[in-house]
Amino acid sequence: KQMNEQTAVTQTAAQVKTLPDAQTVTDVRHYTDRLFYFRVTRPRTLRFRSGEFVMIGLPDDNGKPIMRAYSIASPAWDEGLDFYSIKVQDGPLTSRLQHIQPGDQIILKPKPVGTLVLDALLPGKRLWLLATGTGIAPFASLMRDPDTYERYDQVIMMHTCREVAELEYGRELIESLPEDPLIGEFVGDKLKYYPATTREDFRTMGRVTDNLTSGKVFAELGLGCAKMDPAVDRAMVCGSLEFNKDIMAILDGWGLREGANSEPAEYVVEKAFVG
Ligand code: A2P
Repeated sequence: KQMNEQTAVTQTAAQVKTLPDAQTVTDVRHYTDRLFYFRVTRPRTLRFRSGEFVMIGLPDDNGKPIMRAYSIASPAWDEGLDFYSIKVQDGPLTSRLQHIQPGDQIILKPKPVGTLVLDALLPGKRLWLLATGTGIAPFASLMRDPDTYERYDQVIMMHTCREVAELEYGRELIESLPEDPLIGEFVGDKLKYYPATTREDFRTMGRVTDNLTSGKVFAELGLGCAKMDPAVDRAMVCGSLEFNKDIMAILDGWGLREGANSEPAEYVVEKAFVG
């Protein structure tokens, strides 16, 4: 039996290697039983804008690729590519992907796309990054892009998860930024981090939607206002469909309009991808 298993593993690796879009896993970190981070080599040809996503995947038992959209969580200047993923026990891709180890190969199509890009927003003063769960991934890229800080005086990252442990990937990353040798000087004191939970005790609790409409986040960050102003505030939104819908209603109510690459406006939205 052991022999068979070994043969099967070797075959899978060989199948992936023969694919033109194979990349090698260089790091894996598990945050909870539902969340993990991994890093892969970057194709030499891949150019992307911070906030964009690519299709990644693994072959199934028959060697047929199972591909899903994943936001690139690393900045454009980085030599590797970071990803942050949910683990779904019976998910076609993530049930397999959660077992990858350094040295393994994954498939990555080097065709980046997406709407969560700075170019899809009109110039402004304050940028709000609004995420739940793995929706923080595109912002992990944007928060490490010097352009973000060159375009905005202030950047506010609101991230809400059910439990404290689910905030850890974002917390680690954000707290390391001011000291980062490459991006630290751009970040300075422009980045404000507002993490919260909804189902476990934490210093700040409540949904992003509620903390916006109640004015709580504006008061706690000392912004001197109680809502966004379409003249100065810009927002990028990434969470579940329901989250996105509820946030859009709030932003629309404050007079912000949804933008796109072809027609920049005051906010942009993308669904957080799941396996
Ligand atoms: P809640 O615990 O009140 O449902 P999930 O793990 O289900 O994707 O949720 C991640 C986080 O997003 C949770 O804190 C959850 O809060 C919150 N959330 C879920 N749906 C919405 C929504 N429609 N508006 C605002 N926050 C939401």
